[in-house]
Amino acid sequence: MTRWTRALVTGASSGIGEAIARKLHDEGTEVVLVARSKGRLKELAEELPGHSGPAEVLVADLTNSGDLNRVAERIRSAPDLDLLVNNAGSGRTGPFADDELDLQLAQIHLNVTALVHLSHVAVNVMRRAGGTIVNVSSVAGYSPVPNTGVYGATKSFVSSFSQALHDEERDNGVIVTAVAPGFTRTDFQKEAQFDTTSIPDFLWQSAEDVANAALEGAAKKKAMVIPGAHNKAMVGSIKGLPTSVQRRIAGLF
Ligand SMILES: NC(=O)c1ccc[n+]([C@@H]2O[C@H](COP(=O)([O-])OP(=O)(O)OC[C@H]3O[C@@H](n4cnc5c(N)ncnc54)[C@H](OP(=O)(O)O)[C@@H]3O)[C@@H](O)[C@H]2O)c1
Repeated sequence: MTRWTRALVTGASSGIGEAIARKLHDEGTEVVLVARSKGRLKELAEELPGHSGPAEVLVADLTNSGDLNRVAERIRSAPDLDLLVNNAGSGRTGPFADDELDLQLAQIHLNVTALVHLSHVAVNVMRRAGGTIVNVSSVAGYSPVPNTGVYGATKSFVSSFSQALHDEERDNGVIVTAVAPGFTRTDFQKEAQFDTTSIPDFLWQSAEDVANAALEGAAKKKAMVIPGAHNKAMVGSIKGLPTSVQRRIAGLF
């Protein structure tokens, strides 16, 4: 069953973005793959061909304004694009003051600025014929997380912004869905230099499970999707606690 005609997926070269691109391709959606790793994207494009050859690839560093404008232009010029997945994201762990400022700021450029920029362009394109925007957030956005404070704050922004936009655009035919995964087995933790040895097995999900939940939720026009019963329970139970306790629990991870 084809739910979308053409989708642009950022961060499609690995993890959750790759799983979303594969699932969409299996359903018959043409995919446009965006990330920095040219070789990996080209391989994937051969595996996920469209009607007229390999999938389209846009090699772009979304923290670079020239590259970001190029991806935005592609969205503007694709009238049949009816799904945008803002999935590319990065995180830093460790004390904020000890890290390089540029690396901390790059998280904001990627997780927030690029996502807002592409959402703005896509909403205006999709208002004409309808469409869906999926913004990948995180359970880390539900409470302040010491030692990954900027990352958690970017994800709070993504969840808040996306749900507000959901209500603004619902009657204009544009569905906006935020997806907040918990621990998901991808390259993310390695990139973020996050030690996962203390995280028990039952807390982990596969990228495929997260991709399925994200697309299922978006197709059902949900504002917010939290993949996995354990993540839903954790978010539900942490919500009622004083923020000082939330911070201590989040800090344990
Ligand atoms: N894994 C988890 O436990 C988890 C939990 C909650 C939320 N999330 C969120 O899920 C999303 C996907 O992460 P993942 O777990 O799938 O990790 P991942 O496997 O490391 O994927 C991250 C993707 O983002 C791309 N990317 C990174 N920096 C980029 C940049 N500057 N410009 C363009 N693309 C860039 C990467 O490709 P290139 O390196 O080729 O550019 C890659 O395709 C992120 O938003 C993350 O915050 C992950």
